[in-house]
Amino acid sequence: MEKHIAARPGIWLAAVTVATMLQASGVQAQEFSQILSGYAIAPVHLNLKGKDWALVGLGSYLVNTTGCNDCHTWPNWADGHNPYLPGQQPEQINTAAYMAGGRPFGADAVNPKIQVVSANITPDKNGMPAGLTRSQFLHLMHTGDDPDDPTRKLKIMPWPLYRWKTDLDLIAIYEYLRAIPSIPAN
Ligand code: HEC
Repeated sequence: MEKHIAARPGIWLAAVTVATMLQASGVQAQEFSQILSGYAIAPVHLNLKGKDWALVGLGSYLVNTTGCNDCHTWPNWADGHNPYLPGQQPEQINTAAYMAGGRPFGADAVNPKIQVVSANITPDKNGMPAGLTRSQFLHLMHTGDDPDDPTRKLKIMPWPLYRWKTDLDLIAIYEYLRAIPSIPAN
């Protein structure tokens, strides 16, 4: 048995590499399966250059099981691949518009002159999701303050729930959003 394992240095190298990566990002070992799920369910190609591997995987798990897609990808599903409709092909997210926003929600209840539309949260030309720094993103998730007008609260966006996520979870979400394809605003 010992010989069998010792003869496969690739396995040891992979184990040590993964352990080092987990340690580096502070992600606990029990989140390992979430990280792997995250990579399995990510619907788009991820650019990992300069990113934290464990945080991106955890962020994918959180984003792709938490409904960001429902509001921030519009329409949600690729043509003919909507799991809610009968007689469709296997479900497939509308990757061409993944997290590019644009879903209309009608007038703002507080200021009806404002039409509430989900935001494009893909990385901008500097690689920042929705053009936000990590601390701006955390502030928004904690408070619901509109980054364009700090006197206004974001509507529809479920920040009153998301703010209870741990900072590690929110940082992972941000890291994942940095890794998804950029879709410039139309
Ligand atoms: C129920 C719909 C809904 C869900 C679910 C949702 N959002 Fe939003 N989000 C919105 C809407 C609508 C806005 C714009 C609100 C406004 O302008 O009043 C918004 C705004 C944002 C913004 C602000 C962008 C900017 O620059 O103004 C960020 C960042 C964001 N959402 C991230 C997320 C993430 C990450 C998730 C998943 C964890 C998520 N949202 C889930 C509807 C949603």
